[in-house]
Amino acid sequence: MYNLLKGKKGIIFGALDENSIAWKVAERAHEEGAEFVLTNAPIAMRMGGIKDLAAKTGSEIIPADATSMDDLNNLVEKSMEILGGKIDFVLHSIGMSVNVRKGRHYTDSKYDFTTKGWDVSAVSFHKVMNILYNKQAMNEWGSVVALTYMAAQRVFPDYNDMADNKAYLESIARSFGYFFGRDHKVRVNTISQSPTPTTAGQGVKGFDGFISYAEKMSPLGNATALECADYTISLFSDLTKKVTLQNLFHDGGFSNMGVSDAVMERFTEE
Ligand code: NAI
Repeated sequence: MYNLLKGKKGIIFGALDENSIAWKVAERAHEEGAEFVLTNAPIAMRMGGIKDLAAKTGSEIIPADATSMDDLNNLVEKSMEILGGKIDFVLHSIGMSVNVRKGRHYTDSKYDFTTKGWDVSAVSFHKVMNILYNKQAMNEWGSVVALTYMAAQRVFPDYNDMADNKAYLESIARSFGYFFGRDHKVRVNTISQSPTPTTAGQGVKGFDGFISYAEKMSPLGNATALECADYTISLFSDLTKKVTLQNLFHDGGFSNMGVSDAVMERFTEE
């Protein structure tokens, strides 16, 4: 390990179980010398194994529903107390669509569900940054990262309204990132990750076909959760200080492919 985050303090949202991308980020951040607070929705505390992760990484857990300004206020205040100062890095690793969960087709969305989905998956990122910005809770050259998927730019029919939520999330990263950079020298980016077998990932209809197609299309193959964690660590480190307002593809090359030999083989008649 490289001590890339030595002395840095952070908040990590979204570690549900050991498959979660946020879980791997927490493990890697710990290995790189960071101290951080773990947070998740109160309901997720009962379902997942976040306590094991906290014990393993010497961190405290503060429950927060990422759609609640009160919860987020409390989270940021308490995190600064526990960590003894301002925050250097924040990971937003949160996504949820009620339309997906309830099996509603995209062309037949229920709009209460749509609203809840964008609040959890996109507007929560604005809320988190609102509190960090207005409380001046971030150190200069701090880094904020959210996780996204390429359905924000291209059509993946079964991704449903999560595609729209991700487009919204990526736009918030740019819009808020401008003010955060200008006023506090904090950078804000999204990482657009390959399909990854996690609870959220496997909620997408046809996920198995989806993940093997992406694997065959990508010259380097799909990026794993651990590889995503490594990339995230680089964005939290001082080695990427001038990277901001970006949507960064971490997908083994998938996003720039038209077709690969491996996919063509399946469609070529002998
Ligand atoms: P996961 O299911 O392990 O993590 C999703 C997290 O969101 C859970 O910890 C859940 O408790 C949390 N969450 C849901 N509602 C919340 C709320 N109201 N307040 C606070 N937290 C809440 O799955 P994964 O895959 O690790 O997801 C992390 C991020 O990565 C998500 O933004 C997801 O969309 C994104 N992503 C996932 C991909 C995949 O194929 N798994 C691909 C590209 C991006």
